[in-house]
Amino acid sequence: MSPQETSGTDRELIDTLARPLHDLRISVTDRCNFRCTYCMPEEIFGEKYKFLPRAEILSFEEIERLVGIFTGLGARKLRITGGEPLLRVDLPDLLARIAQVPGVEDLALTTNATLLPRQAAALAEAGLRRVTISLDSLDEDVFSQMNGGKLSVARVLEGVEAAERAGLGPIKINTVVQKGVNDHTLVELARHFKGTGHIVRFIEYMDVGTRNAWDMNQVLPAAEIVERIGAELPLAPAEPNYRGEVAKRWRYQDGQGEIGVIASVTQPFCGDCTRARLTTEGQLVTCLFAEKGVDLRTPLRNGSSDAEIRDLIVATWRKRSDRYSDERQELLQIEGVKPSRRRIEMYQVGG
Ligand code: GTP
Ligand code: 5AD
Ligand code: SF4
Ligand code: SF4
Repeated sequence: MSPQETSGTDRELIDTLARPLHDLRISVTDRCNFRCTYCMPEEIFGEKYKFLPRAEILSFEEIERLVGIFTGLGARKLRITGGEPLLRVDLPDLLARIAQVPGVEDLALTTNATLLPRQAAALAEAGLRRVTISLDSLDEDVFSQMNGGKLSVARVLEGVEAAERAGLGPIKINTVVQKGVNDHTLVELARHFKGTGHIVRFIEYMDVGTRNAWDMNQVLPAAEIVERIGAELPLAPAEPNYRGEVAKRWRYQDGQGEIGVIASVTQPFCGDCTRARLTTEGQLVTCLFAEKGVDLRTPLRNGSSDAEIRDLIVATWRKRSDRYSDERQELLQIEGVKPSRRRIEMYQVGG
């Protein structure tokens, strides 16, 4: 590369808090076949809701090109999200393209699992290594209340089995914990997956997006989650798998596996946050709670070179100072108020 072309690849790219860009989470569709109350409530996302037209969402070619640029800047861990990513037509083709980009060391997908029975084998063949499955409760009534009543727990469990058969395990199960809604069903969920090799991760309910009327009273602190589960299924703390791991690990004392807790509200982890997010329309978002992103689709489509797009990403990351969850905690502690401002929606950034 000539000196004029240098754009941050010759020294490590870090943000204002010295955090490198290591993970890229790519949302491939804004559609979903669920209507979770905390993400896409039916009242707003009803039949009349207009999802993005095809011309506005990034094509596979565009995503593949961006992945190449991001890996050039240090991204190694990739995760496909949505909406529900399995609703994106021909998703295995995209995975196959991404899996062969040099630098991609980890390729995972977050899904509600309902379409896995049909797709798991093709996804694995395309190069997907592992899946994370969202499942908030095994109790049909609770599940239906939280996830919009579109499909059953049984459908999700069929998806878990399909993923297992396709070799996509061990599987992580993500459970959003909402106090007073599903917290009485957590032990049952832990017990169900104990000894299977799959890892349930309980996530503190967060104030993502603007639609979920969040308040602190709906948060069951991770410490209490661990206490409640540990009272019935004894647990011991385990070391993180890697620096900056979002979930804190707890293993069953009888050796039958582990659970995780994601304490994004009570023990925020912004200091180690190395995650960039790409929305369906090609906005680069540097925090789950960002007000808006930086448009990469326009340069992709107006003939800009890879070096120009890379410069835009480098400039954005160098300026990055996001630490929303840390700030939220400070505000809650000092003033007992919740931060209010414009925020990008969960279904746009995929968690
Ligand atoms: P592994 O690579 O398997 O360790 O996955 P992960 O822990 O990075 O994954 P996952 O995407 O499953 O994250 C689980 C959940 O944690 C997400 O769905 C979010 O709800 C939450 N989460 C992940 N990243 C962030 C983050 O950067 N900030 C906040 N506040 N929450 C996050
Ligand atoms: N708080 C915590 N987790 C959430 N998720 C979606 N909304 C929230 C929220 N408000 C989780 C989903 C899924 C992942 C993409 O993010 O359940 O597992
Ligand atoms: Fe769909 Fe996931 Fe949002 Fe639920 S949380 S509506 S499954 S995208
Ligand atoms: Fe990263 Fe923002 Fe989450 Fe903090 S709140 S961990 S900066 S995504």
